[in-house]
Amino acid sequence: MIRVFINGYGNIGRRLASAFSRDKEIQFVGIGKYSIDSKVDEAFAKKYAVYVPEEMISKFRNMRYDISGTISDAIKESDLVVDAAKDGFGYSNKINFYVPMNKPAIFQGGEDRTGEKKVADIIHNSRVNYEEVTNQKYVIQGSCNVSGMGRIMQPMIEKFGDKIQRYDVTLIRRWADLEDTKEIKDSIEWDKNPHHQDDVKSFLPSVKLYVESYKVPSRMMHLHQMTIRFKDKVPNFDSLSDIYENEFGVAVLNKAKGTADIRKKAHEFGFEHGDTNMVHIHEETMRKTDDTLKILYSDDQTGIVIPENHLLFQSMMLGRPKKKAYEQTDSLFQISKKRNLLEKEFAT
Ligand SMILES: NC(=O)c1ccc[n+]([C@@H]2O[C@H](COP(=O)([O-])OP(=O)(O)OC[C@H]3O[C@@H](n4cnc5c(N)ncnc54)[C@H](OP(=O)(O)O)[C@@H]3O)[C@@H](O)[C@H]2O)c1
Repeated sequence: MIRVFINGYGNIGRRLASAFSRDKEIQFVGIGKYSIDSKVDEAFAKKYAVYVPEEMISKFRNMRYDISGTISDAIKESDLVVDAAKDGFGYSNKINFYVPMNKPAIFQGGEDRTGEKKVADIIHNSRVNYEEVTNQKYVIQGSCNVSGMGRIMQPMIEKFGDKIQRYDVTLIRRWADLEDTKEIKDSIEWDKNPHHQDDVKSFLPSVKLYVESYKVPSRMMHLHQMTIRFKDKVPNFDSLSDIYENEFGVAVLNKAKGTADIRKKAHEFGFEHGDTNMVHIHEETMRKTDDTLKILYSDDQTGIVIPENHLLFQSMMLGRPKKKAYEQTDSLFQISKKRNLLEKEFAT
């Protein structure tokens, strides 16, 4: 059994821990926690082994927490670290621990693929390059927006190939996650250099892609407006379901009015952490004019990357064929079942 340690217990780390700790193929080593707050109690309530930085051990123990050891102890015990640190800290973890201790690691989308603080050469998107990450030592799991774009673009590429001229995407990003305590500012902020364009081009190098990104005062989900320009007229198809019917983690909805409708429904249905783990195409907004197709889809920012990390683990550590890996991930996350529930709920 592969021994896995989740280093970091924020929005992403908590979700990774929920999934990886109940996967029977994995020996779950525990989680890394850096500050003393209510999430420490949550981790103990979930019966996770908790590891902390060496300099924090006495502080945690003084608060009567039964700490299992240092971050370094946990890494030593593990075959793989899934790093879920806040943006940029993955790099220092790599330099201080993973490289000297010769341990493979998965990093999250807030880490760099180029420049001084690069952590890996490759960004994973299961729909595009699952096979290429097999046996790699260090891989970045693409961020939520990057994961969503790959999931929508690759099926288009496979269906329409070089009939497509280019893609233009406007990302409307949530300000904070539901669990975040930080204040939401009443402002729309622009991003002068969105990383998403280069990230997607790293695994789809031949596409012409332009990305703009805006952050809005919402906690619910991201929304992407994708415009696809064809060399000639938009090809004939009746519904986006014709293209995405058999895609993993893509729901085609018809009557949601906004991102909050979907998030609230996910909570009502009792989905773990309120996550749908997918993208939701809003078919009723699709427009075709001459050579231009517009698609609007929402992207479950915290949820979508968790099954992607699980798929990446299966490629990196088990070299499992992709179809089998999707089946395994589906059984762990119940994505097909969730998709059916949402599609029924938001049908015309
Ligand atoms: N939130 C999303 O929707 C989302 C989606 C896709 C990808 N991501 C990416 O996932 C990563 C984590 O994001 P997040 O939203 O989970 O951030 P977060 O909620 O701010 O959590 C970050 C966690 O990092 C921990 N930490 C501090 N120093 C650390 C270290 N040296 N090593 C490991 N962990 C450390 C913090 O621990 P303490 O709390 O104990 O101080 C905190 O729990 C980022 O790269 C982000 O870009 C986030």
